Amino acid sequence: MKKFALIVAGGSGTRINSDIPKQFIEIAGLPLVMHTIHNFAKFDPKIEFILVLPESQISNWHLLCKKHHFSIKPKIAFGGVTRFYSVKNGLKLIDDESIVFIHDAVRPLVSDNTIQNCLDCATTTGNSLPVIPVTDSVRIVDGGNNHPADRSKIYLVQTPQTFQTTLIKKAYRATPVDNFTDDASVLESMGVTINLVEGNRENIKITTPADLIIAEAFLKRN
Ligand code: C5P
Repeated sequence: MKKFALIVAGGSGTRINSDIPKQFIEIAGLPLVMHTIHNFAKFDPKIEFILVLPESQISNWHLLCKKHHFSIKPKIAFGGVTRFYSVKNGLKLIDDESIVFIHDAVRPLVSDNTIQNCLDCATTTGNSLPVIPVTDSVRIVDGGNNHPADRSKIYLVQTPQTFQTTLIKKAYRATPVDNFTDDASVLESMGVTINLVEGNRENIKITTPADLIIAEAFLKRN
């Protein structure tokens, strides 16, 4: 089956103290988004890439490709007002009856194992969602009250959320709701059961300046 990686880099990264969107911050010699694309190309050089970018960053992307002699040429889709609309725009460029890895550009540390787990499960069942168990104690804050939660029942959700393309395209077209923060929830809203697979702990979503320091250490080590 043909494979696509839909890399969502359509956000403005307002939670990080930086003039440029976080997906373009250079660490270990490359912008984050290029590290991310490399991970999938290394996993399977035949993967086709769709990159979702804010319209305002498209010329910057081309400049960065020149600067870094970046030879992978993804198809470009325009970012939307939320991640949901960015994914929706990207899915329009993807063939039916294929597999799509939908991945946050700001997760440059996804492992081959995680990608393989996602691929195997989505190929046989239609969907897969990489998760990791929480290691801290957890509390639910509800109004003025708070109480402990059973952490053995709580998992952190990562990307690449992986799907047979016919299913996920149909779900994105059909849903009347647009405030989902991930793709599995869109498919689940159509009544489909979501399959969990093991992610990798280093596969953090870069959100804060501290995450950048951690990611830089891992990327330099690699
Ligand atoms: O904002 P957050 O960290 O949840 O974003 C996760 C990913 O979704 C990032 O790679 C970001 O660029 C992308 N995104 C997007 N379009 C938006 C908002 C976020 O592609 N409108």
